[in-house]
Amino acid sequence: MTKKIQIQAPKGVSEYAPPRSRAFEWIRESLIRPAKLAGYQLIELPVFEDTELFSRGVGESTDVVSKEMYTFEDRGGRSITLRPEGTAGVMRAVIEHGLDRAALPVKIWYSGAFFRAERPQAGRYRQFYQVGIEAIGVNDDALDAEVIAIADAGFKSIGLKAYRLELTSLGDAQSRAAHKVDLVKFIETLDLDEATEARAHINPLRLFDDKREEVKSSMANAPLLLDYLSDASKASFENVQKHLRSLGVAFVINPRMVRGLDYYTGTTFEFVHENLGAQSGIGGGGRYDGLMSQLGGQDLSGIGFGLGVDRALLAAEAEGIDFSHLQGTDVFIIPLGELAMETALAIAGTLRAGEISVDIAFGDRALKGAMKMADKSGSRFVIVLGESEIDSQSVELKEMSTGNSLSVTLATLRDHLVSVLKK
Ligand code: HAM
Repeated sequence: MTKKIQIQAPKGVSEYAPPRSRAFEWIRESLIRPAKLAGYQLIELPVFEDTELFSRGVGESTDVVSKEMYTFEDRGGRSITLRPEGTAGVMRAVIEHGLDRAALPVKIWYSGAFFRAERPQAGRYRQFYQVGIEAIGVNDDALDAEVIAIADAGFKSIGLKAYRLELTSLGDAQSRAAHKVDLVKFIETLDLDEATEARAHINPLRLFDDKREEVKSSMANAPLLLDYLSDASKASFENVQKHLRSLGVAFVINPRMVRGLDYYTGTTFEFVHENLGAQSGIGGGGRYDGLMSQLGGQDLSGIGFGLGVDRALLAAEAEGIDFSHLQGTDVFIIPLGELAMETALAIAGTLRAGEISVDIAFGDRALKGAMKMADKSGSRFVIVLGESEIDSQSVELKEMSTGNSLSVTLATLRDHLVSVLKK
C-alpha cells in the first residue's frame, strides 16, 4: 500500500484562499485603481527574465541581487531569474517595444507575483504580490508628486490611516558625487568586515541600510546626502514638496532612507505602516535617471512605485478594516425541484448579464439546509423558487439583513434589482 504524502506549499510563499482572498483581491484592485484613473496602461511581463537584466538593472550591491534571487539555468543553458521586482522588466519591455518612441511620459501599470529568497517571517515572503506604476521619459517635479499622490490615494481608498509617507532626495549626479567623496572618507574611518567593505565599495549609501546595531551606531554621524544637494536638486526637491502639500499628501522627510535597489536618483519615498513590526514598508519608489541607458535604451529618466499587496492586506487587518461588504453574491436562489432548477439557471443568466451576482443552491437540498447555506454565504437577497413561484411567474425577494420580503414578477426582477443595488 502506498502511503499518502501530504504536499504543502513551498516555505515562505504567500497564498490566498477564500474567504481571505476576497479581501486580497479587493485590496489589489483598489491600490491600482487611482493609477488607471490617471491614464496608466497595463503591461503584462514574464515572471522570469535573463539574469543579467536584474544584475545590471537592480545592482550588484543590493541584497536583492547578491543574496535573494531565484536564479537557475534553463534547459538551454541560459541563466534565468524569477523577477524580484518590476521596474527593470518594464524598462526592458519599453526599450524592446520602442514604447519610448511615442508620446512621453510612457505611463505603465503592472500587478503580479515577485520572488525574493528572503528569510520568511510575518509580512516577508518568498513569493509576494505588488502593484506598481512607472512613468518614463519626463523629468517634471509635478509628475513626481502625482506618482506619490497616486500611491497615497490607493492606501487611503482601502481605509488605511496608521501609515506615514517618508520622503527624501538622492539629488542629481553632481550632488551624489560631492556626497560620495565625504561619505567614502567617513566610511574609511570605520572598522568594517570585508563583506561590508566590499558592499560599501559598490554603493556606500548601502551602509545606511545595514540592520546591525554596531554599523547603525557607526553610521549615526555619517554625512547625509540631503546636505549635499546642488542648487538645482534642492529647488526640485522643494518643488515636489510644494506640490505634495497642495495635493494634501502628508509626508515626513527621512534623510537616512535607503531604498533596497540601486537605481534610484532624485525623489525617493517609502510608505511605512505603524502596526506591522519589522516588515513595515507597505510601498516605495522613486526616480531613476540612469536605468534605461544602463539597459541599452535612450537616456530617459523615470519614476514609479511598487506597493506590497500582501502587506497592505496585513495593515488593513491590523487596523480592523471591515471586509464584510465583500461577502456573498447579490442574490442567492434556492430552487425546489428539477423544474425550479432549470428556471433558477435561466434567471441567474439574465441577472448576471445585468452585472448582478447570483449564486444557486446546487445539489437538491432540503429547504432548511439551503436557507442555512444562503445565510452563511452572506448574500444580500434570497429567493426560494418552487412550483407556485413558477406558476405565478413571481417571487418573494427576501433581504437577509432585515428579513423584509417583497413580491416581484420575474419579468421585472432584473430591473428592480439593478435599481435597488444601484448597478
Ligand atoms: P521595493 O521597495 O523593493 O521596491 O518593494 C516594494 C514593496 O513590495 C515593499 O514596500 C513591500 O511592501 C513589498 N515587498 C518587497 N519585498 C517583499 C517580501 N519579501 N514580502 C512581502 N512584500 C514585499 C520595488 O520593488 C521597486 N521596483 C519599486 C519601484 C517601482 N521603484 C520605482 N518604480
